[in-house]
Amino acid sequence: MDSAATSLSPIPVIKAMDEYELRYRANVGRGVHRLALVATQKYADAHKKIASFIGATEGQTVITKNTTEAINIVACGMEWHKGDRIVTTTLEHHSNYLPWVRLHEKHGINLSVVPPGPDGTFDLSLFEDTIDDATKLVAVSHASNVLGSVTPVNKIAALCRAHDSRLLVDGAQSVPHIPVDVKKAGCDYLCFSGHKMLGPSGTGVLWMKSPDLSPLLVGGGMISDVTADHYTESGGYMRYEAGTPPVGSCIGLGKAVDYLEGIGMDRVMNHEQALTTRMIDGLSSVKGVTVYGPPPGKNRIGVVSFTVKDLHPHEVAHILDEAAGIMVRSGEHCCIPLMHHIGADNGTVRASLHLYNNADDVEQLIVTVEEISRMV
Ligand SMILES: Cc1ncc(COP(=O)(O)O)c(C=O)c1O
Repeated sequence: MDSAATSLSPIPVIKAMDEYELRYRANVGRGVHRLALVATQKYADAHKKIASFIGATEGQTVITKNTTEAINIVACGMEWHKGDRIVTTTLEHHSNYLPWVRLHEKHGINLSVVPPGPDGTFDLSLFEDTIDDATKLVAVSHASNVLGSVTPVNKIAALCRAHDSRLLVDGAQSVPHIPVDVKKAGCDYLCFSGHKMLGPSGTGVLWMKSPDLSPLLVGGGMISDVTADHYTESGGYMRYEAGTPPVGSCIGLGKAVDYLEGIGMDRVMNHEQALTTRMIDGLSSVKGVTVYGPPPGKNRIGVVSFTVKDLHPHEVAHILDEAAGIMVRSGEHCCIPLMHHIGADNGTVRASLHLYNNADDVEQLIVTVEEISRMV
């Protein structure tokens, strides 16, 4: 129950990576021999699958190391001027917060931080009041990695359009669990982690509507020409993937997309929502347990944060592991401002689901939390 941190890969994903390593391992976009051509084609095919998974028929889909790198590519690649404004929220993972704080501290960019309600949902009028003509970028999580709340990014997108601001959506917790379509979301950038959506570790994705960011890295594989004192950048995703990319892992991520599509994201969402409803109902009924986040329902993913009496979250997590083999995350979840905002200064225990969890897992969690609560 720690899939919000990273997920488990199914066998077809591992096999696809093994096949690359054992049968056609070669670098991509560089050689003309047979293996190089096969690897280059499969690598390009994986990009296409990933783009289609998020409904991207335009723009550029770039493979990164993780969501953090994808967000930093945007932060470092946009052109900033003093007086520009960035609007973000208190809900954000540090990865979608620190890049903006750094721009604020180092380059004098104005930073506005919109607070959510205690359950992680937003009063849209706060965005309406905050986004102005100086706002160059609005950066929000699609789904909270602490509270599980889902942000109505398409409504925020409409506000962005009215002020000519760009919208970055941190989809680290949404893309693996609910259907996400960049056109419906109306965003300019979508960042997510391949490793949280059954893909291998070391993979993330940046989709950008207009490939006009300045690349974070320069070097091999991203140019069309170099002279003594000038280089011309190539087009396509290659422009943002300097150096040898994680070829086998990207092919594995393409397979993870096949796997999720084979099941259907609606089914994944419904399965996880049913388990989440039971989890919240069960945990809420345990005496001494505080559950954070919105009530069960459509606008929620399977990330459930809770505390047990005044036990430290790490203590609860240790007992869950030792007593019942249940692996959960505990602590601040890379969201220190949010922890203070919701009054959980020591952090929370977080149980997070994926498609491979079942009703027994949830019942076992509830029963074990009940026992812990009775003990103290
Ligand atoms: C909402 C959110 N954003 C960003 C990240 C960072 O992802 P990564 O560690 O893959 O860079 C996470 C990871 O937990 C997350 O939950």
